[in-house]
Amino acid sequence: MATEEEIAKVIESTDMVELVSPYVKLLKQGKNYKGLCPFHNEDTPSFVVSQEKHVAHCFGCGKGGNPINFLMQIKHISFNEALAELAQKNGISLNVKLPNSQKQDYTKYYELMQLATKFYQQNLTQTQSGKNALNYLYERGLDDKLIKEFQIGLAPSGLDQLYKVLKDANYLELDMLDLGLIGKNDRGYYDIFSKRIMFPIWDEKGHVIGFSGRIFDNPDKNLPKYVNTKETFLYHKGNILYHFAQAQPEILRKKRFILHEGQMDVIAANKAGFNESICTMGTALTLDQALFLKKYASEAIICYDGDKAGITASLKAIKIFRQTGINVHLVLLPDGMDPDEYIKKNGKEAYVTYFEEHIIDDVEYQFETLFLNVNLSDESVVEQVKRKAFDILRQISSQTAKDKFLNLLAKRLAVKLDSLIIDYNNYYTAYPKEDYVEESFLTDNFPNDVDNVAKNIKNDLFKRDYELRLFLYARSSKELALDIDSKIFEYMNAFSKINRQIWITLINNYYTQYETFDDKTFCSLLTEEQRQVYLDNLESLRGSTVVYDDNDLANIIKKMHEDTLKYENKQLSSQIDELADSAAKVAKISKKFQNRKQIMDVRRNK
Ligand code: UTP
Ligand code: MN
Repeated sequence: MATEEEIAKVIESTDMVELVSPYVKLLKQGKNYKGLCPFHNEDTPSFVVSQEKHVAHCFGCGKGGNPINFLMQIKHISFNEALAELAQKNGISLNVKLPNSQKQDYTKYYELMQLATKFYQQNLTQTQSGKNALNYLYERGLDDKLIKEFQIGLAPSGLDQLYKVLKDANYLELDMLDLGLIGKNDRGYYDIFSKRIMFPIWDEKGHVIGFSGRIFDNPDKNLPKYVNTKETFLYHKGNILYHFAQAQPEILRKKRFILHEGQMDVIAANKAGFNESICTMGTALTLDQALFLKKYASEAIICYDGDKAGITASLKAIKIFRQTGINVHLVLLPDGMDPDEYIKKNGKEAYVTYFEEHIIDDVEYQFETLFLNVNLSDESVVEQVKRKAFDILRQISSQTAKDKFLNLLAKRLAVKLDSLIIDYNNYYTAYPKEDYVEESFLTDNFPNDVDNVAKNIKNDLFKRDYELRLFLYARSSKELALDIDSKIFEYMNAFSKINRQIWITLINNYYTQYETFDDKTFCSLLTEEQRQVYLDNLESLRGSTVVYDDNDLANIIKKMHEDTLKYENKQLSSQIDELADSAAKVAKISKKFQNRKQIMDVRRNK
């Protein structure tokens, strides 16, 4: 632990106004400064900052405190992390090693990535060959300020220019390879990115952890539009929320974020003043990402492309946000456009107006998507729309939202509300099992090119979903649980780590002691974190009736098998260097499997 003295020194050398300013617009009032509290919603400022006393305090909600408290609360970090950050900022070296700094220190990797970023930036703005790329960016509506703000650069066409720069700066080849910046073949080292416009990708703290490179003047249609950094120890594609670090102050201020489909949309939205914009890297939003965002905001606005893939992805994201309790709103842009295209076509002022005037809630959005490209004069189409509407309806838990939905539906279909309610009740009784798939929402009039985004989303959701379904099945009887376990245990890698732990507790701990299932007893065997995840799992399935089904189990096993293979392949191909290490691990794991197999056999023979 740091000493009292060191802590006091860090507090005293921090400029409170400078620390708070990115998050709160402060006005001087006498000796102090005042602004709207970043921790709760208010119209009149009750957040007071005293530079002299080194405190920031909200007289409305009581949050805040000294610089360390403030930073802990605003960034959701630990005491030690906040202390270390402030110490570093003020050039104070802490004598005592913090428990935190024993964690991997990635400073040198961040610096390496920063140097690469700088190299790409200079190559864009200060070379003759950067002219074409710059013109391309201007053509797309970016200006120098945006290019600088987003640290956009250009990968040169040479074979190994970046490599040489990094080498000259004394970085190790091993690190460059590990970070996905260079590759190696029999002729030596070469740059991975070449002739692409480079967008740095930051982690949630603002470190560059990878790049996304866009093609710009190559007529070869077979090349992918964007090439992203491969999976590295820093860059995990599925976790990234692009631009979050920069958007964070605005997200806290507005208590909302806008989720876009791609980085060009985030940049365009910023140009229009929506600094709270973020996006994933062409991957489906995950529950983990949604839970992370929930710490900062109470409202999500999804603004994906208005094409089929964008709508499908929106519907999936709605479901995920609902599981976290975030309020979901959406903006559907006209004519299948994305924000970037809209702004290019109509200007940023028009975009702001359109955006703010077209924010609708999740239920309205689902409702609207029912009527895209349908011909309501066809009686069978009306029946189809009704059925899809009922499927949406059963996912809505709030009765008032249901009422609103039914009212809208009756109006739009020009039928009597009473009859509609009768139909709904009949439908609900006839089809108690939830067999609703979002794709079926959209008519086939859309172009049939559901792209990778949608495919990824589908896989991801099915995966989450199968974990949850297996838990539900396993709760229904011990016999079934053990039977399922014997079929899936070799594919357990397909489970998320925490669900895997929960599952193992269920089989190896709970069911070895108890014959019937009881949530309360089971929870007492879990750690706090596991319990939370487990309860969230249950919560997200509440209301949907899951009845055990052999077929479903067979499908799940097949999928888990595939996922395990995929997972293993990916690991193998991207981590050849670690193979030796893995061999030992594999031996250990297979030994574990063997042990578990034996346990299973013993149990079965009992
Ligand atoms: P889009 O194809 O919607 O890109 O992909 P965009 O943002 O409209 O791009 P521009 O306007 O043509 O430049 C959305 C996101 O999916 C990922 C990227 O992160 C992109 O921002 N993506 C897309 C890839 O990773 N690879 C690709 O080949 C295409
Ligand atoms: Mn676009």
